[in-house]
Amino acid sequence: MKKVLTGLQPSGELTLGNYIGAIRQILKYQEEYESFIFVADMHAITVPQDPIKLRENIRSLLAIYLACGVDPKKNTIFLQSENVYHANVSWILECLTPYGELGRMTQFKDKKEKNANFGAGLLTYPVLMASDILLYDIDYVPVGRDQKQHVELARNIAERVNKKYGDIFKVPEPLIPTEGAKIADLVDPTKKMSKSSENPKGVIYLLDDERIIRKKIMSATTDSETRVVFDPENKPGISNLINIYTSLSNLSIKDIEEKYKDSNYGSFKSDVADIIINTLIPIQERYYKLLENNEIDKILDEGLKKTSTIAKEKYESLKEKVGLHR
Ligand code: TYM
Repeated sequence: MKKVLTGLQPSGELTLGNYIGAIRQILKYQEEYESFIFVADMHAITVPQDPIKLRENIRSLLAIYLACGVDPKKNTIFLQSENVYHANVSWILECLTPYGELGRMTQFKDKKEKNANFGAGLLTYPVLMASDILLYDIDYVPVGRDQKQHVELARNIAERVNKKYGDIFKVPEPLIPTEGAKIADLVDPTKKMSKSSENPKGVIYLLDDERIIRKKIMSATTDSETRVVFDPENKPGISNLINIYTSLSNLSIKDIEEKYKDSNYGSFKSDVADIIINTLIPIQERYYKLLENNEIDKILDEGLKKTSTIAKEKYESLKEKVGLHR
């Protein structure tokens, strides 16, 4: 069976964009492939973090994933920092990766602008990501477009190491979701809905309550017409709401246009709010229950046991090839 792996940083509250764009990819792939999912907590400390908040975010991210339907029977779920082989392999790969190649990564260039005294980990971050992937002979890596360059770097590293030391690593491929899954900000629909947005009114957080969700959708920016028509260029606000509607229901864009051809924006928005509420409320109920019990710890213990065995073997064979042995 082909293998997929993906990781998420425990940094802040997840949004409806994360749910539609990323979490639902995982739900699909868990049915088709052997699937590994982990919390990339070591990646999170490449920028300053409050230790208490970070610990809470790790648990919250795991609970959200389970609540959304990530099935621990179909996925190996683990915490990156508990599996020591990720950092060990990363060190060897860092020594085999040219400095210039890392300096050219788009995300590094963006992030260093925002963090005046950034640490060296911000530069070496994609090598740790390569280790996460290469340790498990992964075939596919489902990520958003922003992470594609990092998966390509992992491919380069694998090919370079294989050429120098013989076949050690499988060369992975990125899996990028389709265009329709890109959810925009509700206030400024020309921007992506993002957890780091300055205006929370434009963002539906997965833990927003019913009243807040309805308020945000009802006041979402639209246009001066009244036609519910999908036209991202001229009607980005309404098109974004149609996109959310089609993503969370079994109606196509055409079905939605037909259904609302005689309606005004008010009744359309009210139905969009209903659909989001009906999707998120059951997730929230499961989330709060999961936070209280010890299922998460059991899942992480099992994930650590399984991934350590696989990762140890890969680490030992890499060490041997490089000459790190008695
Ligand atoms: P992170 O935590 O920034 O994002 C998690 C995943 O969500 C995707 N994403 C989006 N997709 C669609 N629409 C959006 N608006 C949106 N915002 C975020 C991201 O592309 C990502 O797939 N470095 C990674 C974590 C990581 C990883 C790995 C991923 C560490 N090691 C190994 C895959 C394989 C990151 O920071 O993701």
